[in-house]
Amino acid sequence: MAAVTLERVKALLEKENGRFVSQRPKSKALFEEAKQTLVGGVPMSWMRIWTGGFPVFVDRAEGVYITDVDGHRYLDLCLGDTGGLCGHAHPQIVEAIATQMRTRGTTTMLPTEDSIWVGRELRRRFGLPHWQVLMTATDANRMALKVARSFTGRQLILCFNGTYHGSVDETLVVNFFGELINVPGMLGPIVPDAKAMTRVVDFNDIDALEQALAPGDIACVITEPVMTNIGIIFPEPGFHEALRELTKKHGTLLLIDETHSMCAGPRGITGEMGLKPDIFVAGKFIAGGYPAAILGFSDEITGFMNQRTPWHNFFGFGGTLSGNATAVAGIRAALEHAINEENFARMVRLAKRMEDGLAQIIRDAGLAWYVARIGCRVEFRFLPKPPRNGSEALFAEVDYNAVDIVSEGLTGPLDALIHVWCANRGILLTPVHEMALVGPTATERDVDHYVGAIGELVRELVK
Ligand SMILES: Cc1ncc(COP(=O)(O)O)c(C=O)c1O
Repeated sequence: MAAVTLERVKALLEKENGRFVSQRPKSKALFEEAKQTLVGGVPMSWMRIWTGGFPVFVDRAEGVYITDVDGHRYLDLCLGDTGGLCGHAHPQIVEAIATQMRTRGTTTMLPTEDSIWVGRELRRRFGLPHWQVLMTATDANRMALKVARSFTGRQLILCFNGTYHGSVDETLVVNFFGELINVPGMLGPIVPDAKAMTRVVDFNDIDALEQALAPGDIACVITEPVMTNIGIIFPEPGFHEALRELTKKHGTLLLIDETHSMCAGPRGITGEMGLKPDIFVAGKFIAGGYPAAILGFSDEITGFMNQRTPWHNFFGFGGTLSGNATAVAGIRAALEHAINEENFARMVRLAKRMEDGLAQIIRDAGLAWYVARIGCRVEFRFLPKPPRNGSEALFAEVDYNAVDIVSEGLTGPLDALIHVWCANRGILLTPVHEMALVGPTATERDVDHYVGAIGELVRELVK
């Protein structure tokens, strides 16, 4: 097997970082200026996680391309970490949102007819009968867990180790060598003792799940149908069936969060696999990147909410802007014109081409890395085979590789090198992962450009 040495990674990283900085004087100057008034020089702290020392400032974005203020044009494979998966400035989505704003009000705390179309379409795609619209997937997950607690009269929730569902305290916990703790370094958890909120087991571990549910004190299991944030981890055959059966048996609700996994196709994995959750959440690109999320409920939960007086669904649920008419218009346009079979057929075909190209590079170089794909999302990881669950993913990469190559802060020098290398070749890759999203207007040439850039880097790394 070929090996990648830290020495080689660091030497290339220094060179690429130097090139990144010297070719982006305007972004650098804007970042320095922004630091005077914005925390960390950015309007949202996540924008600090780009490599190269500062984020590029965006001048224009259209389709799968972004142009920065220094005039560099990038193929955008990050697509706002899925928020932009419909493509930037999608003409019909922009038109629907602009028309809503121009003629019917941005937000009025009143419904529009679009909401009826949206409710019907969500029911058709994902199976759940009743819906609410929130601002973000984080928001929807938080509300869903509150509803689950009220509905069941139970306090605890269960999530899988290594999961991510947004800034949701109950899910920002990790089983660290047998001890349940809040994610190290996270900002002030509401409840400092993770065990008071959450029980955690491993994805694909049916026995552990059964044991954790058996006391009958879990309100809700929250999960992605395929894990994405710790790397793509597929459910083993029978896992979803067991999860549904066990949650039912123990009076626990099942929440499927498709915020990322909807990159599989227009009906998500829920629609494709015929999953039957009690609660469903998706967000990010559901309104083409305009802030919106969808939250679906079973008949039983809806009945419970409908029985309550309006006041009781008011306190602790949603906010003034939730379900605003512009978000609803955006959801309708995105579902009609972007999140459809035609687009996904093309995106998935291109993503397969990307997957094959990356796998070939890895084979040719003799590296023990693997490639994984869900729909139009493709990633490679520095491990010989996919982990079975989050615990394996958390620890295997560090065990398997030289620790200092892959773990330093959130990731490590090898990850930083791949990202800055791509940026210097006109490609934006999602921070923190080796993950690429193929958007609706991407072409074979775009895919080959990315695969070519990774091929060139791998040859530099193993020579
Ligand atoms: C599976 C999943 N759920 C929910 C969220 C939260 O989305 P947002 O940050 O848009 O609220 C994320 C964010 O990455 C996610 O990956």
